[in-house]
Amino acid sequence: MKKILFAASESVPFIKTGGLADVVGSLPKYFDKEKFDVRVMLPKYMCMKDEWKEKLQYHTHFYMDLNWRKQYVGVLEMEYDGIRFYFIDNEYYFNGYAPYGDIYADIEKFAFFSKAVLSALPLIDFRPDIIHCHDWQTGLVPIYLDNFRYGNEFYRGIKTVMTIHNLKFQGTWDPKRVRDITGLPQYYFAPDKLEAYKDANYLKGGIVYADRVTTVSNSYAEEIKTPFYGEKLDGLMNARANCLSGIVNGIDYEDYNPLTDNKIERNYDVSNFRKEKIKNKIALQKELGLEENQKTMMIGVVSRLTDQKGFDLVAYVMDELCQDAVQIVVLGTGEEQYENMFRHFAWKYPGKVSANIYYSEAMSHKIYASCDAFLMPSLFEPCGLSQLMSLRYGTVPIVRETGGLKDTVEPYNEYEKTGTGFSFMNYNAHEMLATVRYAEQIYYDKKRDWNKIVERAMNKDFSWKNSAKQYEELYEGM
Ligand code: ADP
Ligand code: GLC
Repeated sequence: MKKILFAASESVPFIKTGGLADVVGSLPKYFDKEKFDVRVMLPKYMCMKDEWKEKLQYHTHFYMDLNWRKQYVGVLEMEYDGIRFYFIDNEYYFNGYAPYGDIYADIEKFAFFSKAVLSALPLIDFRPDIIHCHDWQTGLVPIYLDNFRYGNEFYRGIKTVMTIHNLKFQGTWDPKRVRDITGLPQYYFAPDKLEAYKDANYLKGGIVYADRVTTVSNSYAEEIKTPFYGEKLDGLMNARANCLSGIVNGIDYEDYNPLTDNKIERNYDVSNFRKEKIKNKIALQKELGLEENQKTMMIGVVSRLTDQKGFDLVAYVMDELCQDAVQIVVLGTGEEQYENMFRHFAWKYPGKVSANIYYSEAMSHKIYASCDAFLMPSLFEPCGLSQLMSLRYGTVPIVRETGGLKDTVEPYNEYEKTGTGFSFMNYNAHEMLATVRYAEQIYYDKKRDWNKIVERAMNKDFSWKNSAKQYEELYEGM
């Protein structure tokens, strides 16, 4: 039996800001339970819903040095869906309304978390063979582990995997401050270790010290070796190429299942979507005050509203797009310029554009189920889960060919009658618009072909089955 510990800053159902939480919360369930004991360690945020906080059980607590600071570390736990989750408690670090806030506070918060993860292990009677770290927030785990090994037998032989969900966020600050925070010896503050471009860089440190590095799609694994996608770490990615691989994300096929989803108006599957899916659209048009017409093509967006997701392209051609016979439904929060952009167009085109600037799990399911198409024109996309959710609900993705979008959406070919979506290559607003209009044309003029695309989309399998196997092979090979 191999023991695996996931260390991460978010996980469904406890706390979520993006796709990372979906991955950390669903992947562990899909390992072969005979061969792998996978557990998860998370911060216990005060902003977690009470319904979860109430269920956590106290396990132990201790005090831990963080350089000159001495900090309380509580360890709580609960079992959910057959998986053991541990929560690191410290009300000074994990207060606030959201998991992340001021980056400098976050730098100290996640130094604390990373060291606490390792320090808690001997007290919870779980010595993992492998610690699987996710994103910059846990980048210091492999470094502290290296440092711990010298003095303590317990830690010798523990291996680490670092998974990059987004290379853009690295967690960097002035080395002097980071030295003061972490208490790590000067030795680590060198350009071949924790330092990059004169800053201490958590993610970089994790990548250097991890035994294996993975990212969440094959294309992104290749892309980050180039300057355009490499976020100034492309040199390092090339240097670590022999330890770097891409494993595409899956989604939870139980949570996201149009046949059993209780958040949507009408359940359906691939055999009856032609008659049933449309009832979700009508219900959503009513709910959001859009013009009630079941024939109108409805395009959905569910996203963090940031530069990464390509919304400057959308802003650029939104007026043109709104001349077409389409409805656009947006659900998202993020940068003010994009929030206001969508609010503006909802005001300008009432009945046609619906801007829902908030976070709602339930509304996201309704959009995946109701829309005909889903727009995701990302500038870069390590994997992307929204397009997988769309495919699952028979909502045809329109995407830019980058990262995981390229690996999971097969462009429609009208001659060979293949494909599960529509895609364009260049980061260009009119190329995107032309692709949306091509999709409109198929939707309105070739309904049978459109429905075949939906059918192929719904028949694709992006459950965790295949990808969990690849993680198993990775662990077994270490
Ligand atoms: P990223 O992790 O870069 O934000 P992904 O596509 O991997 O992108 O994952 C995004 C996840 O967050 C999906 O599960 C999506 O449904 C969800 N999501 C994004 N914005 C919202 C929102 N405003 N309300 C509900 N869910 C959202
Ligand atoms: C990041 C990426 C997204 C990916 C998610 C989960 O948030 O932006 O593309 O799907 O992590 O791996």
